[in-house]
Amino acid sequence: MEQAEREILDSWDANSAAWVRAVRQGRIESRRLATDEAIVAAVTAHRPSRVLDLGCGEGWLCRTLARSGIDCVGIDASVPLIAAARQSDAGNYHVCPYSEIAQLSARLGRFEVISCNFSLLAKELSPLLDSLHELLESTGTLIVQTVHPWTSCSDSAYEDHWRSETFAAFDGEFSAMPWYFRTMESWLRILDDSAWSVVRLTEPRPAQSPRPLSMILEAVARAGR
Ligand SMILES: C[S@@+](CC[C@H](N)C(=O)[O-])C[C@H]1O[C@@H](n2cnc3c(N)ncnc32)[C@H](O)[C@@H]1O
Repeated sequence: MEQAEREILDSWDANSAAWVRAVRQGRIESRRLATDEAIVAAVTAHRPSRVLDLGCGEGWLCRTLARSGIDCVGIDASVPLIAAARQSDAGNYHVCPYSEIAQLSARLGRFEVISCNFSLLAKELSPLLDSLHELLESTGTLIVQTVHPWTSCSDSAYEDHWRSETFAAFDGEFSAMPWYFRTMESWLRILDDSAWSVVRLTEPRPAQSPRPLSMILEAVARAGR
C-alpha cells in the first residue's frame, strides 16, 4: 500500500466515530440537500439486483438499497466503520483496502453496479479502476460521485493536487484528511486510461443552490478493451 493511501485510511480510522455521527444525524448539508438522493437515484435507475458499494463507510447506502430489495455488498478499509455498519444491519460487509480488492473478487462475484460515493480520494487510482472490470458484469455500470471540480476548486489552482479536508464545519470533531483534487479532464482521463467510457455526467443541484453540490460520473467498460 502506498504511503498516501495509508494516510487516507489512518484519517478515516481516526475520524470514524465523528463520521458515523455526522452521517447518521444528517449533519452534512450537501448530503441532506442533494447528494444522498442523487446517488440512490443514479444506482436504482439501473434496476440492479446486486450492487457493490466501494468505500461504503458506515453503510448508509447499502442499508438504503437493501430496503429496495437490492443485494448490496459494502467494502471499506476502515475496521471501525465496517463495525458500525455491521452493528446497524445484517448486510454483507468486508474490511478490505482497495489495494487488496483483486484478492476478494473471486469470492464476491460480479455486480450490475459498482458505486463509489465520495470514496475515491487517492492520487493513484489506476490499479483499482483496472481491477474493477473483474467485479462488474459486462453490461454493468460504474458510478462515481465526487466533489464537483469546478465548485470545490475555490481559490486553488485548477490543477490536480493534494489537499487537506479539515471538516471546518464540525468544530474540531475531525482530524484533517488528505485527498487528491482532480480536474474534470483528469477524472475523464483516468477513467479512460483504465478502459472506462463515461456515458453520463450529472451535477446534483437542489433548486435553491446556485451551483452543483457534486458530480456523478457513470461509466461502462470500453468495448473491445
Ligand atoms: C467520504 S467517506 C464516504 C463513505 C460512504 N461512501 C458514504 O457515502 O458515506 C470515504 C470512505 O472511503 C473509504 N476509503 C478511502 N480510501 C480507501 C481505500 N484505499 N480502501 C478502502 N476504503 C477506502 C474510507 O474508509 C471512507 O469510509
